[in-house]
Amino acid sequence: MTTTPPPAVEVRNVVKRFAGNTALDDVELTVPAGQVHAVIGPNGAGKSTLFAVIAGEHRPDRGTVHIAGQNVTSMAAHRRVKAGVARAFQVARVFAEMTVEENVTVAVVAAHGTSRVFWSGGGLRRARRPVAEALEEMRLGDLRKRQARALSQGDRKRLEIAMALVLEPKLLLLDEPTAGMSPEETAATVELVHELWTHTGLTVLLTEHDMQVVFGLAQQLTVLNRGTVLCTGDPAVVREREDVREIYLGAST
Ligand SMILES: Nc1ncnc2c1ncn2[C@@H]1O[C@H](COP(=O)(O)OP(=O)(O)O)[C@@H](O)[C@H]1O
Ligand SMILES: [Mg+2]
Repeated sequence: MTTTPPPAVEVRNVVKRFAGNTALDDVELTVPAGQVHAVIGPNGAGKSTLFAVIAGEHRPDRGTVHIAGQNVTSMAAHRRVKAGVARAFQVARVFAEMTVEENVTVAVVAAHGTSRVFWSGGGLRRARRPVAEALEEMRLGDLRKRQARALSQGDRKRLEIAMALVLEPKLLLLDEPTAGMSPEETAATVELVHELWTHTGLTVLLTEHDMQVVFGLAQQLTVLNRGTVLCTGDPAVVREREDVREIYLGAST
């Protein structure tokens, strides 16, 4: 008998307010393990805030977040990383003065560096291989000695994904992974993420503006509008909804 694993992410009744502005208003989201799920919606809909709540960067005012069946609502962000959550930001956060390779190594140190076992066990040396693999996975091997500041926007975003990947997450959060990329870089990134998902079967939750990207990657869509979920479903079905077209698709085409 096989048992179904718990959902990778389960957000229930989440409310998040910023100084009287309700960014998330009773949001529900369920992402089954192994799914590529996209959260779409216009600017200011609450997508990045929802990611911050899932990653543990913001504590919700109400509601709960479960990751792989575990209630993490009050768990700190760095502990969620250990529980298998890694994220890349809408605006890539990399160390401009460091090389590509150093940035990915720093991601490992940031995740494990407070552990004595890491340092005494030669963690840095043992990190070399996963670092090289993450760079290969994102096709950054040739650029590994380049300073991050010299990268194109697309390469920088891919570097940030590599910094998340090196942690071998079970859940990868990508906030607008193709923001600021050229159409060629966008297409290449979609392919890389798709390949990655095919290899690893990890759960990917992404927000995206570009509908081509969404339809190229996501198996399920959730539409957010003004902090509330308008609907969740199959991309082909969601796309045809009149209300979705009105608030989002209509506005972008
Ligand atoms: N740290 C913050 N402080 C105050 N308001 C915020 C903060 N983060 C987001 N907001 C507000 O919450 C709403 C949702 O923002 P956001 O989650 O960034 O939307 P999206 O990512 O969909 O564009 C917006 O009105 C935004 O101004
Ligand atoms: Mg955003």
